[in-house]
Parts: sequence; structure tokens; C-alpha cells
Amino acid sequence: MPGEAKPLLRALRGEAVWPPPLWLMRQAGRYLPEYRAVRAQVADFMTLCTSPALAAELTLQPIRRFGFDAAILFSDILVLPWALGRELTFREGVGPVLPPLRTGAEVMALDSTRLADAIAPVEQAVREVRLSLAREAFDRTALIGFAGAPFTVACYMVEGGGSRDFAATRTMAYREPALFSGLIDRLTEATIAYLAVQIDVGVEVVMLFDTWAGILPPAQFRSYVERPTREIVAALRNRYPDVPVIGFPRLAGVLLGEYAADTKVQAVGMDTATAPAEAMKCVPATVTLQGNLDPLAVVAGGAAMRAETDGILHVMRGRPFVFNLGHGIVPQTPPEHVAELVRIVRAG
Ligand code: CP3
Repeated sequence: MPGEAKPLLRALRGEAVWPPPLWLMRQAGRYLPEYRAVRAQVADFMTLCTSPALAAELTLQPIRRFGFDAAILFSDILVLPWALGRELTFREGVGPVLPPLRTGAEVMALDSTRLADAIAPVEQAVREVRLSLAREAFDRTALIGFAGAPFTVACYMVEGGGSRDFAATRTMAYREPALFSGLIDRLTEATIAYLAVQIDVGVEVVMLFDTWAGILPPAQFRSYVERPTREIVAALRNRYPDVPVIGFPRLAGVLLGEYAADTKVQAVGMDTATAPAEAMKCVPATVTLQGNLDPLAVVAGGAAMRAETDGILHVMRGRPFVFNLGHGIVPQTPPEHVAELVRIVRAG
């Protein structure tokens, strides 16, 4: 298989590739002047996500600049609820805004029959990215597709946008467990369909972003984070045995090992707060680890960034590992610091 030569795919199949493959969460974004230039051409963020040529261009930008081992499809986790019929706008300085979902009727109205049409631009963007990667001879760069994990997507849908504690969502999970589970089940099914489409047109790896997993107590973590993730992994593995799944249960803390064992993801993303040495102890050596440099260390750059990076590399050497941040890169990051980070990691 020619794809086997790509360092990311080798690492995700359990090989201790060294120096480790690297890419950064949110690697396409506002910290890049070339992103801001494209963003300025359109009225709103969703236009980027629904214009295949623009989404493909934005996906390629960080690869051209830094030569990362993975391109991640330019899109957003909230494209899925939008594709199921929920309104979605991104407000400058606020973030995503959706109509809060609070009733069984609204869950029943989530319309998976319109999914295929709504995600056609995403499908086309994947095709264009694969063509561009080949045309520009980025032979070592693998393409990652993604979705939000059902719990995190449900958080934004129920709350109607971002929140510090997602209190309305978590209250619903206690007061109306049947309603909340119904929402999670719908999203689980839709996520499988959505990721299958991405794989069918060319993504080589998929990642599930569960940004808010860590706000749940353990029993609900099992029901709303582990169970849906396990179902998504099982369904995809059955259809696409060679496509690895990376899970990112942010702030899972001591439940990280249980998450890995229970969901059977091929790789687990460590968040910024996780000590790599602790993750090594609780996650089996057959599961690849990914992470986890503090995005703020890249803002700082210099000796601090080098020391933090060396610390992670030292612990991870000799086990299957993918270098990344512990959360998304932030807009104030100097691009030269990212270039320096790439040099440090590639020097092993
Ligand atoms: O480069 C990449 O990583 C690919 C694209 C990508 C985006 N969002 C683009 C984006 C990915 C993988 C995401 C994931 C995402 N989106 C998550 C999970 C990962 C995480 O960071 O926790 C979440 C929770 C979202 C929801 C979301 N999208 C929020 C809360 C916001 C507003 C806050 C912010 O960071 O701007 C977005 C907007 C968004 N998604 C931008 C980008 C590049 C910024 C839009 C702009 O240009 O203003």
C-alpha cells in the first residue's frame, strides 16, 4: 500500500516512528495572514465551509507553509447540526450561535434525509484537497477528516452556542435523560454517516473532537462520551478496517485510559493538562498517543517552547506517537514560532 509510507499512517498503525509525525489542531486559522486574506473575501465563516474551492485552499495553506504530516479538512464541528437542519451563524467576537434545542419534537425534526445534499460541498472539498496534495507533491501528508463527538455537538445545540459550563445541557441530561439520550443517538447515527462520506471521497484518518468531555461526572462520561464513541468506532471499523480513528476526549483526566480501552480508538489525543508520563501509564502501548504542547508555549516561543517540547519528546520516544498541541492553536501565535517548533520536532 503506497499510503503506508506516510509517517502519520504508520504511527497510527502502531509504529514508533521517529522523529514523530506532526500537525497542529486548528492549523488553518487566524494566526496565518494568508487565512485572514481569504476570510476577508467572504461575509461569513460558513461561506468558507460551504465553498469547496475556498475550504480546499485553506486546508492546504498550513501544509505549504510548514510541511506538516497531516492536512485537516477545513470545516467546523457545527456543520453537522447545520446539515441536519439547525440554523447556525458565527458572530464576530462571540462564536457560534444556534437556536437552543430543548424539546423532543426538535430532536425528532433533525432531518438526516437532507444530510447528503447539505454536505455535498464538504465532499467536494475533500476531493479537491486530495487532488491538490497530489498535484503539489505533498506525498508524506495524510488527509484527516473530522466531526465533533456527539456530546460536544449536543452541548452547542442545546445551549445555543458556547458556554463556560454548559449548564442547560447538563441539566437536561439529569432531568430528561430519555430526551438527551435520544439526541445523542441521533447525532451518533448522523456522525457515522457523515464520516463515512468523508472516507468514501478520500480522507485517510478521522478524528472525533470531544472538547467538553471533561465536564461530565464519570457515569455520564460513560453514557455520553464513551458509548457513542465506541459505536462510531465500531461502525466505521466494520466498513473501513484500515481507517484509523483519533479520539480527543478533552479534560478526561483519570478516565483517559478507560476511554481508550472502552472506545477502541486507534489513537488518543492528550489535552494540555495531561502529563504525558501519566497517559503512558494508563493508555496501552498499542494505542497511539497524540499531543500535547500548550498552545500558549507556542505563543511564547523561545526557550520555554523548546523546553516544553523536549519534555514531551523525551517521554514519548520509543512508543507510537503523533506530535500536536494540547488544544487548538490561538490567533495571536507568531507563525515563525510554528516554523521553529517544526524544526525542533523534526530534529527529534
Ligand atoms: O485547521 C483546522 O483545525 C480545521 C478546521 C477546524 C475549525 N474548527 C475551523 C474554525 C476544526 C477542526 C474545528 C473544530 C472545532 N470547532 C471545535 C473542536 C476543537 C476545539 O478547538 O475545541 C469546536 C469546539 C468548534 C466550534 C467553534 N468554531 C467555535 C467555538 C468557534 C469560535 C471560536 C474560535 O475559535 O474562533 C469556531 C470558529 C472557527 N472554526 C474558526 C475556525 C478557523 C474561526 C473563524 C474565524 O475566522 O473567525
